[in-house]
Amino acid sequence: MAVTPAEILIPDISLAHKGKETLIYDIKQVQKVEQSQCNVRQQLLDGLMDPISPSIPSILLWDDIGLKLFETLTLNPRYAPFHSELGILNQRVEEMVDIIPSGSLLIELGCGSLHKTSIILSAFERQKRYVTYYALDVSRRELVEGLGKLRALFGQSKYVKLRGLLGSYEDGIGWLSQYVTTGNGHDEGDDGAGPKMVTFLWVGNSIANFAPDDAAVLLQGFSVMCESLNLSCQFLVGVHTCQDEAKVLASYDSTEPALCDFIFHGLDQANQHLQEEVFRRGDWICRCEFDSTDHMLRVYYEAAREVRIELGGDHERVFNCGDRILAIVSGKWTVEDIQQMCGGVGLEVSRSWRSVDYECEFHAIRPQ
Ligand SMILES: C[S@@+](CC[C@H](N)C(=O)[O-])C[C@H]1O[C@@H](n2cnc3c(N)ncnc32)[C@H](O)[C@@H]1O
Repeated sequence: MAVTPAEILIPDISLAHKGKETLIYDIKQVQKVEQSQCNVRQQLLDGLMDPISPSIPSILLWDDIGLKLFETLTLNPRYAPFHSELGILNQRVEEMVDIIPSGSLLIELGCGSLHKTSIILSAFERQKRYVTYYALDVSRRELVEGLGKLRALFGQSKYVKLRGLLGSYEDGIGWLSQYVTTGNGHDEGDDGAGPKMVTFLWVGNSIANFAPDDAAVLLQGFSVMCESLNLSCQFLVGVHTCQDEAKVLASYDSTEPALCDFIFHGLDQANQHLQEEVFRRGDWICRCEFDSTDHMLRVYYEAAREVRIELGGDHERVFNCGDRILAIVSGKWTVEDIQQMCGGVGLEVSRSWRSVDYECEFHAIRPQ
């Protein structure tokens, strides 16, 4: 049976623009919320007890507080990729929007603070192309604040319609099928018919917070769903590509408070899920390493002394001084890496844009 997603109205904005509200759909499957919290706890225990490469689930970093800390990090002038991505968008956005037909759906995956989005939506305005834009993220606050700012810019637009989706990437795949079967009428294309194409915008190198195989599975999930719904689909993906280790590590300087605050927030979140103070910040230092063979930056918590963590039941583990727990990965993938990842799931890179400083690239990805 089709489920209509719950609708959250942004109160102040909907009042100011009666009849043209910005809707945020809560697409988290309600019955799964408690289950997903248990899952995070279980993932946490499994990750910490992994005998070879202990880790915490990186989703712990992306709550409302984590996102604010991440934003502070990215706005730091030393965090080069963010500024490079803004630069390439400002220079090449018309060409990128050129590949998105009027009347399309544009779904931004992991939209965060939506800093870059207004550059893209402004190009739709200039090119007089209709677009229904959906911002998707797990953070309600980012969606409300970010869409509020976009509303101020595009609230009166004839071409740009704004929406929000509160949920995970996987929830987004599920929502798409319901959207087409139940919600298509909300977002008619300019010819009065429903949209024929979906473009998934995935910027800020978020795709490379996954291992390549896991990223490929997500891309495939979206593209297979579109295919089953008779929608054409493409991805516009912004990635960090710098292979110069010194430059990469300058952006991820573990002595920078902005980076440490963001990363250590993961330990606070772990304590919350474990319902006790298992981790004390003073026991750990933040360590970043770039592996030039697999093009992955890895950020770790490194034990500053011997640390014994007790996780209840039989779960106990001793970390010796220098032992590490993986906090997050951020791939610095070349176009060949992306092509290889896509090829395995029936996708291909159809066009690329590279920043002048070689720090980042945008790729259009389509089914082969
Ligand atoms: C690296 S940040 C990028 C933010 C923004 N796109 C930018 O370019 O600055 C990753 C974003 O993805 C979101 N995110 C992480 N995991 C997610 C998931 N499983 N489902 C949905 N959003 C997720 C985070 O909340 C965060 O906003």
